[in-house]
Parts: sequence; structure tokens; C-alpha cells
Amino acid sequence: MASHQELFNPLLPEFHADPYPFYHRLRSVAPVYQAPMGLWVLTRYDDVVMVLRDGRFGRDGFEQLLAAAYGGDTEAGRLPRSMLFRDPPDHTRLRALVSKAFTPKVIENMRSHIQDIVNRLLDRVQGAGRMDVIADLAYPLPVTVICEMLGVPTEDQGAIRQWSADVAQSLDAIGLPTDAEIVTRGRAARRALGEYFRRLLPERRRQPREDLLSLLIAAEEQGDKLTEGELLATCVLLFIAGHETTVNLIGNGLLALLRNPAELARLRTDSTLLQSAIEELLRYDSPVQRTARITNTDVVIDGQTITKGSMVVAAIGAANRDPAHFTDPDRLDIGRRDNRHVAFGFGIHFCLGAPLARVEGQIALGTLLRRMPNLALAGTPTWRASSTLRGLEALPVSF
Ligand code: HEM
Repeated sequence: MASHQELFNPLLPEFHADPYPFYHRLRSVAPVYQAPMGLWVLTRYDDVVMVLRDGRFGRDGFEQLLAAAYGGDTEAGRLPRSMLFRDPPDHTRLRALVSKAFTPKVIENMRSHIQDIVNRLLDRVQGAGRMDVIADLAYPLPVTVICEMLGVPTEDQGAIRQWSADVAQSLDAIGLPTDAEIVTRGRAARRALGEYFRRLLPERRRQPREDLLSLLIAAEEQGDKLTEGELLATCVLLFIAGHETTVNLIGNGLLALLRNPAELARLRTDSTLLQSAIEELLRYDSPVQRTARITNTDVVIDGQTITKGSMVVAAIGAANRDPAHFTDPDRLDIGRRDNRHVAFGFGIHFCLGAPLARVEGQIALGTLLRRMPNLALAGTPTWRASSTLRGLEALPVSF
């Protein structure tokens, strides 16, 4: 049996390449597992759902734990925490301000525009016979959409994208020993993004548009709904969420299909399966592999006491392969029924962008398969360094 050190170590190259055998072992050997560095890791579906919906697990205390591990962040000008790192009632207030912009109905109305973007991106490469799915489609699609929604000028988009990548990489520090430099860079990038949005404010106050920035400014100007800092933190969260997640649904999803040719062929012959295929791809190789909470009281699970103030990792990627919940969990089945995966989380923090991610995924993969009937891997796909967010650096294909 593997030593406890190896049970949960996303830094191991084998774990990074394929975390699922590790999750299975951990789930069967120690489903409520205290890792050597103190945090608890939960890999069973039911436990993950419990952590995400139970008020005994919250967000308060995160910063203190991170500061204890990596040093405090006392510099002036720091952004307040976004809704993702707040508990009610602040979480409820901040989420309500933007939730109307992400309802399934609003997003459905964006379908033809999203289709236009996908068509344009594929037109650029169609004649070449090969493409890097990440650079040519999976990344630019959600980035274009979220920048348009927020109101980020097109000419700025290239310059500010590195900050998003830096913040995303620093997420691994939540629960993993991470290079302090990565953490520092992540904090600086988050601040820089906040400053970037702050600079857009005066012009937008003078001349509101139909974008989220203007919507948030209107709310701020009404008085007690949100502070300027909270407004900026919301923009930064949406910007990063739009840059670092859906890209991985499209990339991981297409790779899974290419590695499972029978399922790929099934989807090609029956496009009505597209919706359930997207859900299955989200389950099968989840773009967000884990999240975490802090216990605000002692909690006993399976006879083990997790003391108040502990960090608890909800291993989303493991829950989505739990055989107690999914029949034959390691099999890709694009027609899977009753697929209640937790790729978008669960409970009050359930992904606000889920309707948008789903539509982007459906249109990107659906169009790719329709327009490129001979799609095949044309090189070895490489994984990005981060392990909280699981996604490919490059996915070369020919068609
Ligand atoms: C396939 C793509 C995506 C996946 C897998 C994903 C996954 C998740 C997960 C797991 C959470 C919950 C985290 C937790 O409970 O700690 C979450 C929250 C969130 N997501 Fe997504 N996400 C995706 C795309 C997006 C997009 C496109 C946006 C918006 C542009 C977005 C915005 C958000 C926001 C604002 C939250 C915080 C909600 C809250 O705290 O109430 N996500 N996402």
C-alpha cells in the first residue's frame, strides 16, 4: 500500500497526469483523511456534498490560514474578498447583484452570438488542417464572452490575461505546499486586476453601457448595496472565472472524446446527446478538481473529529468518480442518466456561470465535431502546472 504521504499528493507527476486512481485508493483506504500538513481531504460523494451545503463548513478563516502558511498580506490597497470567499449574509448580497446576468434564460439569448464567435475562430484555422484546440478555440471563446459581458475593451484583453493565469495558479496554495513566489505573484496579480478595473470606473460612471461593470456601478451608487472594493472584487472574480474554467471543459472534454472513439462516434451520429455529453465530460474530467472550507465548529465524520478552524478539502474530482454514486464511474458514457455530478459545486456557492459554461461547451464541441469530421490527436497533449484547476496547456489536433 502507498505510504500516507503518497495518498494525497497532487504534486506527484503520476497524480498530476491521472489523479483518478489516487482518488480511488484514498476513498477506499481513508475516505476522511488528514494529510500530513494538517488539512482534511474528503473523497466520497456524500461527504463532498455535505461539506458544500452544511453551514458548519464556511469561508471565514481562510485568509488567516493562508497568511500563517505564506506570510501576511498587509499591503494597502488590498481588495475585499469576493462572494466566493464570503459567508452569508455578505455572500447572499453580493451574489444577488450579478445573478440576473447569468440566468439560463439570459444565457440562452446569447446562443447565436456565441455561435458566431465559434464560427469565426474555426474559420481562421479551417484551411490549415490542424490546430491547437486550446489556443485556437477553447481559450479565446470564453475570454471573448466574459470580456464583452464585463465591458473590458478589446485592446486591453491581451495585456491583462497573464494576471488571471497568475491568480489561478496561486489557488493551489489552498491546501498544498506551494512555492511562496507563486502565492506572492497571485496576490499581486489580483491587486493589479482590481486596479485595472478601478481605472475603468470614471469613464463608465460618466457613460454607462450595457455591461456588468455599469450594472455594478449603478448598484454601488444606490448606496448600501456594495462598496467600491466589493465591486472591483466581483469584476476580478468574474474575469478569472471566465478565463480559467470553461477552457478546461472544452479541452479536457475533447481529449476524453478523442481517447474514447466509440463515444465520439456515438456523439457524431446523434447530436441530441450533446447536452448529456457535456454533463458527462464535466463529471469525467472535472475542470475544478477541488475546493475547500473551514470548519466553524468541531465536526465528527465517521468517528473522526475535525476540530474547529480546520481546512477541509472537498475533492470534487474524486466525488465525481465515486462508485457508490456513479455506476462504472471510470467509463465515459455520454448518454449517462441521472448524472448529478458536482463539477459546478453544490449549495450556496454553486457555480454562477454554469449556464454560460454549459452553452459555451455545447456550441464549441458541437460545432467542432460538425465542421471537422476527421478530428484526430496530432501530438501529445500537455497538462498545465496547476492541480486545483485541471486543464491542458496545448491540445494539438489534425482534421
Ligand atoms: C466549466 C466551467 C466551470 C466550472 C467547472 C466551474 C466550477 C465552479 C465551482 C466548482 C464553483 C464552486 C466553488 C466552491 O463552492 O468553492 C464555482 C463557483 C463560481 N463560478 Fe464557476 N465554473 C465554471 C465556469 C464559470 C464561468 C464561465 C463563470 C462566470 C464568468 C463562473 C463564475 C463563478 C462564480 C461567480 C462562482 C462563485 C459563486 C458563489 O460564490 O456563490 N464559473 N464554479
